[in-house]
Amino acid sequence: MADHSISFRVTAPDEWRTAADVFRAALLSPPASDDDWEKPGLRDSWADSHSISAWEGERCIGHAAGFHFTTMVPGGATVPSSGVTRVGVTQTHTRRGVLTGAMHRLLSDSVGHGKVLATLRASEAVIYGRFGFAVAGDTCEVEIRRRGAQVVAPVAEGTIRILDRADVLATVMEVHGRVGLDRPGAILRPEWMQRRYLADPLATDKAAWVIVHTGIDGVDDGWAQYATEWPSTFGDHSGGICEVGDVWGATPQVELALWKFILDLDLIGTFRADERPVDDAIRFALADQRSYHAKIRTDEQWLRLLRVDDALTARRYNPANGAVTIAVTDPLFPFNTGTWRVSADGAARVADHATDDADLVATINGISAAYMGGTSWHDALVSGQVEQRRPGSLAMADVLFASRPFPRCGSFF
Ligand SMILES: CC(C)(COP(=O)(O)OP(=O)(O)OC[C@H]1O[C@@H](n2cnc3c(N)ncnc32)[C@H](O)[C@@H]1OP(=O)(O)O)[C@@H](O)C(=O)NCCC(=O)NCCS
Repeated sequence: MADHSISFRVTAPDEWRTAADVFRAALLSPPASDDDWEKPGLRDSWADSHSISAWEGERCIGHAAGFHFTTMVPGGATVPSSGVTRVGVTQTHTRRGVLTGAMHRLLSDSVGHGKVLATLRASEAVIYGRFGFAVAGDTCEVEIRRRGAQVVAPVAEGTIRILDRADVLATVMEVHGRVGLDRPGAILRPEWMQRRYLADPLATDKAAWVIVHTGIDGVDDGWAQYATEWPSTFGDHSGGICEVGDVWGATPQVELALWKFILDLDLIGTFRADERPVDDAIRFALADQRSYHAKIRTDEQWLRLLRVDDALTARRYNPANGAVTIAVTDPLFPFNTGTWRVSADGAARVADHATDDADLVATINGISAAYMGGTSWHDALVSGQVEQRRPGSLAMADVLFASRPFPRCGSFF
């Protein structure tokens, strides 16, 4: 536990910059400049979060915060969630319980604020399991080589336009608000985050563009952004590099129409993208699937259910000939300990304790891992977070919980 000389409190607005410098230094990054604090976006992002700071006397020595997000769960419902972020402890004060104190305060405040889930991106995979988090979805960093990268699958009918810089923010906010919740784990990007994603196409000196797809009904139903870099040697025939920052469509066919436009750009030899889903539609739509090369696959969303009742009843389950009972234990929030029956009709609490005769027994990490339908119950069992008591129940839980397409957030924070 934290020593008694350390206290935790909600960070006041006039302390944000001090707290920002502390967690940035913890991440071995420079402080944000005066210019950064002047830009629209940075202050907004602080105002859009619940910030907890740790203090030793007058000195800030740690920080953790949660953005106020809305997250889609399997079946399409959305729930209030806490996007845990800006976590850092001054190097002189690590391993003394500062993060533990800040995280417990943050998570319990988030429960009090009605958040159903907490989600985060981890700098290191060893930090957050102790607080009940587990990996609920992965993403890929990919490279597509031009040779063989023709889109051969059907694409949505419609037209594509390149946005004028002045229209970028408003148009993307509007279109993304309608098409951005495309998979479990996706969040509605607040304007401060969209400004960050669109920094290049919004700047006046960058080779970066936003395109919008309009369906044959006249409605904008997808958008993408890309930027270009050039080899320094004139006459180098390998072509330019295109960094594809975002591709979002109301359907996979709209995504493919946007990809087709990008992959047909003259002068480009290599396309790179990150935060791509593990089952990326464009991979399966190319003439040569191996022109799509997943260079890195890594954990994306770490998830912790904050209110198991609300989380399990918010999502939908797949058709299945049967039900499972799942006993969950949560040492941090005892109200989450209980037993639920889950079937195609939904989930309902059947006991306020973890019953001995439950089919499956899960830690809070186990149920959090499996919740989005990306990490299988089988994988959660292999990692030691789940135990099967009734043969066949693990396979039944996998049928009930699976999400296809796979979960993916696609928005880094
Ligand atoms: C990660 C970080 C916030 C941990 O803060 P902290 O105050 O040292 O954490 P705590 O003292 O509360 O640690 C709680 C437990 O987690 C363990 N732990 C914490 N961070 C760890 C790490 N990076 N590697 C291994 N173990 C870690 C501690 O050893 C301790 O274990 P114990 O309970 O068995 O003693 C801090 O090391 C840090 O600022 N790191 C650099 C920035 C960073 O990575 N931030 C996270 C961004 S996602």
